[in-house]
Amino acid sequence: MKNGPLFFLGLFAALGISWAGLLIGTNAQLGGLAPHFDENQDLAFPAQFPGVAEQGLRVYRDLGCASCHTQQVRRPGFGTDQERGWGERQSVARDYIYQSQPQLGAMRIGPDLANYGSRAAEAGIGAPALLAYLYNGHEGMPAYRMLFEQRKLVGESSAKALVGGAPEGYELVPTPRAQALVAYLLSLKQSYELPEAMPYEPAEAAKGGSQ
Ligand code: HEC
Repeated sequence: MKNGPLFFLGLFAALGISWAGLLIGTNAQLGGLAPHFDENQDLAFPAQFPGVAEQGLRVYRDLGCASCHTQQVRRPGFGTDQERGWGERQSVARDYIYQSQPQLGAMRIGPDLANYGSRAAEAGIGAPALLAYLYNGHEGMPAYRMLFEQRKLVGESSAKALVGGAPEGYELVPTPRAQALVAYLLSLKQSYELPEAMPYEPAEAAKGGSQ
């Protein structure tokens, strides 16, 4: 080939420019997203994750929960997410600015968890009930027993121990990983409003389209 080096230089330039365009364009669009200040509530959203919840995010990632759970609500009119009670509005990029590794997920074998914290609060599910759920599992939801330590009961049982489930003379104590995971799950909330994600009513013509 006569112009070999030139050909490779051209190829490199074409790939390099499209790679840079992709990065620079995306960064310009999303890189500078700041929290939204809600004047009515005098608060900025999304809220910062408590430190322990940030650790829980790593446990969630480590255990591969995202292989069955998504954390992204589609907008009303695009699927049945709202009817299923997963969220009142669509998820947008700004919802994730404080998450180091957002666990968007790709498959929904279990329910979407983007708003799990709000759902749990409404249903009165606190940390003890959620820990028991993780220990026992439920239809299709695996049991995560390795997040608990079975200890021989000596004197008083631990204040953190699960109620029930342990054999006679033993207690089940959640490990710090279990506690961080539960703190993370209970902090998952997209129940605040963001201007770019206002609840959106599909136009009449679009209704009844692909659900
Ligand atoms: C094999 C698929 C699968 C994996 C892996 C999985 N889940 Fe689930 N999960 C499910 C299913 C299915 C349900 C619904 C079960 C039911 O109807 O009670 C569920 C339900 C839940 C719920 C209750 C949701 C609600 O709205 O009531 C929570 C919370 C949850 N999972 C958290 C987790 C966490 C945390 C992990 C990782 C440690 C995980 N799941 C891993 C399938 C899975």
